[in-house]
Amino acid sequence: KKLRIGMIPADGVGREVLPAAQRILEALGSRIPKPEFTHLDAGFEYFTRHGEALPQETVAAMQNDVDCALFGAVGSPTRKVTGYSSPIVALRKKLNLYANVRPVHSINGIDPRHVDMIIVRENTECLYIKQETLTTTEENGKEARATRLITERASKQIGRMAFRIALARARPEQPAGLTIVHKSNVLSTTDGLFRESVRAVMQENPDWSDASKIVVGEQIVDSMVYRMFREPEAFDVVVAPNLYGDILSDAAAALVGSLGLVPSINAGDTFVMGEPVHGTAPDIAGLGIVNPVAAIRSAALMLDHLGYTEPAKQIEEAVVDVLKEGVRTKDLGGSATTEEVVAAIEKRL
Ligand code: NAI
Ligand code: MG
Repeated sequence: KKLRIGMIPADGVGREVLPAAQRILEALGSRIPKPEFTHLDAGFEYFTRHGEALPQETVAAMQNDVDCALFGAVGSPTRKVTGYSSPIVALRKKLNLYANVRPVHSINGIDPRHVDMIIVRENTECLYIKQETLTTTEENGKEARATRLITERASKQIGRMAFRIALARARPEQPAGLTIVHKSNVLSTTDGLFRESVRAVMQENPDWSDASKIVVGEQIVDSMVYRMFREPEAFDVVVAPNLYGDILSDAAAALVGSLGLVPSINAGDTFVMGEPVHGTAPDIAGLGIVNPVAAIRSAALMLDHLGYTEPAKQIEEAVVDVLKEGVRTKDLGGSATTEEVVAAIEKRL
């Protein structure tokens, strides 16, 4: 039996961190089924050469030929480029990877704060459906509008995922916390629906509505950012609509030292794709100094999701050991190269 893994490095440092993750998966040896890596194209650079950012072959391979995938990062321009649309946003939708799960935790000895939270971000709707229009009016000149979609179906789906994750973190003496993030005070229809739908799924499982197991709370998104910085230890599992979840997870990365540490998985009911939270880091791309930990941890999360819990744990332990030893890239104040960090983790494994 083999483990077939689609590899989509895409742009920028994605091309440096995916090979790092590949080496770590290979270093696991017989602890997982023999990994078989398939390179798949996507990205802005691919678009500039071929006129499409996500070739149909990549989507088809993801649907038919691989068991799971890893994505690097895509360098989407901030200006509108005719014909271009972000391939990561498209992939999440096409494969119905409705949950983006982002654990953020501090490492003892590296960060003085005690952060141990999981951000569960809805991954397919909200403002990211990208329905934008531009018109011109007499009064305002150019007028741009964006449609924000929140559905009961997707909100309940992400709610169930959040409750499942919370329940798995509950301890007999310490219930898990679940915080619903929204802005229902202003956007009572859209955010109101999100909040109500997440709350509604509590009734589907007696464990989810049992306050000795999960304590459900909520926080308005702006004060959420404030509280997360003031008392990050107060948060456990956090569930949010797409845009808020995106912003919160970059902010949370600052609490633990670097975006280069924070992994994620895009998960649906039948497929999982690991992906570091960071982007293409154009300021350091190509220098060999990018932190590979986020991508390596994303590979570990992917394995964990597939049921290879023990090897996933071993990767995480090796990463923590190496960071504690002081083998750290520049973003963490160290001087190690990407290669040195990967080699150290490999050796541990
Ligand atoms: P970014 O995450 O690429 O970089 C932000 C800052 O963090 C930079 O100073 C960068 O050097 C640093 N950083 C990020 N990852 C790092 C790592 N692994 N090791 C060391 N330092 C790291 O965000 P930015 O600059 O806003 O976006 C750059 C490009 O990335 C844009 O084109 C954006 O569209 C794209 N992007 C893609 C994402 C994806 O593929 N899912 C997510 C976020 C941004
Ligand atoms: Mg982001």
